[in-house]
Amino acid sequence: MESSRKRVALITGASSGIGREFARQLDRQQVADELWLIARKEEALTAVGAELDTPSRPVVADLTSPDDIAKIRTLLAEEQPHVTFLVNAAGFGKFGDWQTISDAAVDAMIDLNCRGLVDTTRAALPHMERGSRIIQVASAAAFAPLPHMNVYAASKAFVLRYTRALRWELHGTGITATALCPTWVKTGFEKVARASGGGHDVGHLLGEQDAATVVRRALGANRLHLAVACASPQSAALRLVGKVVPDCVTMAGWDLLRRL
Ligand SMILES: NC(=O)c1ccc[n+]([C@@H]2O[C@H](COP(=O)([O-])OP(=O)(O)OC[C@H]3O[C@@H](n4cnc5c(N)ncnc54)[C@H](OP(=O)(O)O)[C@@H]3O)[C@@H](O)[C@H]2O)c1
Repeated sequence: MESSRKRVALITGASSGIGREFARQLDRQQVADELWLIARKEEALTAVGAELDTPSRPVVADLTSPDDIAKIRTLLAEEQPHVTFLVNAAGFGKFGDWQTISDAAVDAMIDLNCRGLVDTTRAALPHMERGSRIIQVASAAAFAPLPHMNVYAASKAFVLRYTRALRWELHGTGITATALCPTWVKTGFEKVARASGGGHDVGHLLGEQDAATVVRRALGANRLHLAVACASPQSAALRLVGKVVPDCVTMAGWDLLRRL
């Protein structure tokens, strides 16, 4: 039976890049009666909302803050929506080795990329029904350990593993979860990643894709109930490398590549 509750799609990181593109494409697909756009910058969220046909609500939240996560839980408890879609796109990385990335940046990366993503997912799940969909934005960095992006790559491996196991637990509920693992994408990511003492430890971001293509492919993979969306042949190749090549060999290859 169709639920009479308001259908809501939750998109974290909706103020920029991949999250903003998810907001645009989910708007076109009319997956919800309201899009909740979640990030820290209210003005940017309002600007994204103004582009959309579906009504939207800017939810200003720092997802590294337990208080702000609690705010989202309260909002969901008060409104009791039917969450048809959850996209966790909020996240960031830093280039540099263990000495050049600050303690604060390392903690924030773990808090946002891992804890914030898990908490948002757990907040949304009780409001999901058969047919609800989840896309967790991981990265091709999840496929192997990456020196000079060590915490970032580890955080994305966490997202990939978490999503795969959650998906297994959701078997039979009709809720589909997909981990999106793209290589480089043209967004605000690079500027943030380079803002550290080791910001130039990674050279050119080879083969950058546009966010629209990545998101279109992610939505297609999720519609097909795939566990992982690579979104490019390069990422699919890296996924294979991660499975068959010893990590020390992959890390040596990456160490050459990042100097280009
Ligand atoms: N671009 C790439 O090459 C690439 C490749 C693979 C995976 N990814 C992943 O894709 C996801 C989206 O990144 P992007 O490439 O679209 O970069 P982006 O343009 O910098 O977007 C990052 C988003 O995260 C939000 N955010 C950052 N810190 C936050 C916090 N503490 N609380 C809430 N929201 C926060 C930002 O909004 P506010 O600043 O307004 O809070 C922004 O909306 C990330 O998880 C990233 O790791 C990116």
